[in-house]
Amino acid sequence: MSDKEIQDLRRDYGRRDLNLEDLQTNPVEQFMFWFDQAREADIYEPNAMTLSTVNANGHPSSRVVLLKDVDANGFTFYTNYDSQKASDIEANGLVALNFLWDRIHRQVRIEGRAERVPASVSDAYFDSRPLGSRLGAMASNQSSEIASREELENRMLELEARFADDEPSRPANWGGYCVKPSMVEFWQGRTSRLHDRFAYTLVGDEWRIRRLAP
Ligand SMILES: Cc1cc2nc3c(=O)[nH]c(=O)nc-3n(C[C@H](O)[C@H](O)[C@H](O)COP(=O)(O)O)c2cc1C
Repeated sequence: MSDKEIQDLRRDYGRRDLNLEDLQTNPVEQFMFWFDQAREADIYEPNAMTLSTVNANGHPSSRVVLLKDVDANGFTFYTNYDSQKASDIEANGLVALNFLWDRIHRQVRIEGRAERVPASVSDAYFDSRPLGSRLGAMASNQSSEIASREELENRMLELEARFADDEPSRPANWGGYCVKPSMVEFWQGRTSRLHDRFAYTLVGDEWRIRRLAP
């Protein structure tokens, strides 16, 4: 594809709008409302979100993870506590999340602090996963170098044999992080790039809502 062809990729986001009076006073409630609409719009993996972290040297990185729970505490995903992202978070809990629901021309940006969820919460979620996913999590030393795909597959075969008649319990290095939001922005695409944007920011215990220029 030429530069010109990429530059000419344009969509008109005309169908919906977002007004102050439409918004819930709490951004997590507003998120849940939009999340239901993303599901209704049949978006493939509406719970896929880009997680950005910053390491101890100030170096940023991003990757996609899946939202597994959202409530008044925040937005929870599960991962390996020895992974790159986890070592970033342990050094600096400030993270950003980003959802793109392109079919309905919406983006949600979240900034906040990630903290490990209680072990009992990770246990309950681990136990609810299919056996293959549980063993897969155990087989992978996420983010570390491996010599070959075979190494990973052999490790999985060993685990399948070991847990043929036995339930695995959650490895100590696997569990959830909950991102407690301090800023949440809702972006609705509109015509002629005059999009609607509203940012919630926490001022003391209160959420302040501002309309931002697109
Ligand atoms: C759609 C999708 C969903 C993913 N979900 C997760 C997830 O929930 N947890 C996770 O640790 N990695 C998930 N991954 C893999 C991560 O993007 C990433 O490759 C992995 O966590 C290692 O990241 P790190 O080395 O930066 O720690 C997902 C990837 C994709 C494309």
